[in-house]
Amino acid sequence: WLDRVQLLESVVSTQEEAKRLAESGAPEGTTVIAEEQTGARGRMGRKWFSPRGKGIWMSIVLRPKLPLLQTPQLTLLAGVAVCKAIRRVTGVDAGIKWPNDLLAGGRKICGILLESSLREGKLHYCIAGIGISANLTEDDYPDHLKEVATSLRIQRGGVPIDRSELVRAVFDELEMHYNLYMKQGFKPIKELWESMSVTVDRQIALNSPQGRSEGVVVGLDDLGGLLLKNSSGEISSVCSGEIELL
Ligand code: BTN
Repeated sequence: WLDRVQLLESVVSTQEEAKRLAESGAPEGTTVIAEEQTGARGRMGRKWFSPRGKGIWMSIVLRPKLPLLQTPQLTLLAGVAVCKAIRRVTGVDAGIKWPNDLLAGGRKICGILLESSLREGKLHYCIAGIGISANLTEDDYPDHLKEVATSLRIQRGGVPIDRSELVRAVFDELEMHYNLYMKQGFKPIKELWESMSVTVDRQIALNSPQGRSEGVVVGLDDLGGLLLKNSSGEISSVCSGEIELL
């Protein structure tokens, strides 16, 4: 996939650029990386802070032959792959918060947005958007993000990150885990996710369209839903929403 990369200076969002390429038939692995995004998007309609030259802002076209029901598994796969790449290249002890936020020192260092496009009711392509806050310093963050976000550089006590090396590792790990998933299914990904997650065995609150609930995370189910045990011991599976570690 590394040879299918387009490097751009400034875009509104790499998601939109990758989508445009996918619509015109670009093959799997086609990737857009930008130095800066002026209107980047996060999950649940949020904005994503992407200042020039400070991070890795990238979107990859995927064309998996999968039933629609299985796309949450891809979201989790992307979290595992990027987390591994970060740990290996930077030494930062990143962990995964469901579904695929990456945290270090209790704050967010990376967000992943997986968007699916359908044709005739079937999965047509997916765009995996990855935002890694690599080299931002404390001063780069606006006030509302200072408490909740951090960068790899900050977590390394100011030592900057080699972004090219990290991008290469992200491709390596993504391709490796994607191939593993296509050959062996979700089981190995699920086990890796559970071992790298900061949410398993933790008391959490879930905010979803159905309201707020609390429970202890038990793990993942076979489709990639989060298994949550409430105070009466009942286990339910959750597939959307936002969690808060309590
Ligand atoms: C989130 O945590 O809410 C997901 C953030 C995803 C951000 C990335 S940066 C590259 C790509 N382009 C976007 O507009 N969003 C994703």
